[in-house]
Amino acid sequence: MEIIIYPDPILKKKAEPVVNIDGDIQNLIDNMSKLMYQASGIGLAANQVGVKKRVIIFDINHKEKGKDLTVLINPTIVLAEDKVVSEEGCLSVPDFQGNITRKKHLQVQGVDRHGKTINIEAEDLAAICIQHEIDHLDGTLILDHVSHLKRTLYKRKAEKLMKRSDNGQPNLL
Ligand code: NI
Repeated sequence: MEIIIYPDPILKKKAEPVVNIDGDIQNLIDNMSKLMYQASGIGLAANQVGVKKRVIIFDINHKEKGKDLTVLINPTIVLAEDKVVSEEGCLSVPDFQGNITRKKHLQVQGVDRHGKTINIEAEDLAAICIQHEIDHLDGTLILDHVSHLKRTLYKRKAEKLMKRSDNGQPNLL
């Protein structure tokens, strides 16, 4: 399992609700958290590892591995208020940052890895992170939140890098 990078089409797919929290889901969560900490990320969605299930994880403190990890299955935004703008990056969109407007206060409901319903109140970075990860579950990337020009420039850059990795040779044009 590895973190999938733009422009892989799976990143544009909508993830489906989890029906049974079985061993596969437990393995998925463990693998996702391993990858997230390895990559020094603060959040990860299941689509980013190629699994179209509505599972997100995050740890905005990111100090002690696993200590402040939150697992949220089938998350739903119950309440969203006020606005905040911040610079966001994404593990699936390397070398890209964009200023993105999000809701500042968030109330989210979901289920934890034991099947227990949880309600989370989040603000600022935590709220931004949860919205970013839920976006992933709906096939939306930070690239979809920035200007057409910025998106096009990045797309071109990513395509060049892809071509290069196909034959192992740099492009000479
Ligand atoms: Ni992301």
